[in-house]
Amino acid sequence: MKNKSLKIGRNEDCPCGSGKKFKNCCRNRKAEVSIRDEYKKRYDIIIKTPEQIAGIKRAGELLMSIMDEVETMIRPGLKTDDINTFVHDATVKAGAVPAPLNYRGFPKSVCVSINEVICHGIPGERVLEDGDIVNVDITPILDGYYADASRTFFVGTPSPEAKKIVSVAAESLRLGIETVRPGATLGDIGHAIQSYAEGQGCSVVREFVGHGVGVDFHEQPQILHFGRPGKGVALVPGMVFTIEPMINLGKKELHVLEDRWTAVTNDGSLSAQFEQTILVTEEGYESLTPYVL
Ligand code: MF3
Ligand code: CO
Ligand code: CO
Repeated sequence: MKNKSLKIGRNEDCPCGSGKKFKNCCRNRKAEVSIRDEYKKRYDIIIKTPEQIAGIKRAGELLMSIMDEVETMIRPGLKTDDINTFVHDATVKAGAVPAPLNYRGFPKSVCVSINEVICHGIPGERVLEDGDIVNVDITPILDGYYADASRTFFVGTPSPEAKKIVSVAAESLRLGIETVRPGATLGDIGHAIQSYAEGQGCSVVREFVGHGVGVDFHEQPQILHFGRPGKGVALVPGMVFTIEPMINLGKKELHVLEDRWTAVTNDGSLSAQFEQTILVTEEGYESLTPYVL
């Protein structure tokens, strides 16, 4: 005869003494642990602990305070290297490290990408001009934790084309973020972005993608900004990743300049990008680098 009493029922008191039902306590915790192990094994995805999430959130708060100050600096005549100096000094002063500096040979502490530059622009002697759009992409490492975010700003008075591409890029990220909840898939994020951006007559860059982030700069999974609903890995609470669609006013094709970093549109059309670091929660999502889109 089987000894049924050895099995703890889902609705019985948890044997750990918490006073909660077993299904809401250790039975559930065991399930969380196995999802963590499973995602690591199958996808190399690091499901973050509450402590890691708190660390990434602090890095995100620092990032957004630096971004707010950058916003106030943006004006015609500003040298892109002045943005680099400011971001570098503000990061170091806060006890953090700028992740881009020396990352795979990147020579500066922030990416600054103007007009037809899609991403990975290297700060230098170029000066912001009236009517430009400029993306500033910041990634501090604070106490070992990474947060990654970018915004595209207008310099002076924007043209109608500048207004259009910046608005479509911002809305693309907003719609991508809005799909995030447990049970949604990576394909849902990509599809929301692609269908909106292409519906506006713009194009989605394929060569650069969002990424897991937090204990390293670029972790698994890759977050494609195009795709099919229901395809790809299912989102679970504790996943942290960026969504960072690069949207072109013209065609999606690009090339990388001689400096081996600066990515530009082949047709010379404007490109804009917004990026946030997103946590999957039980209810949906929380941005760890929040700003209004
Ligand atoms: N911050 C970029 C991203 O969103 C990566 C820049 S890599 C660098 O993933 F080396 F150019 F900084
Ligand atoms: Co990123
Ligand atoms: Co970034």
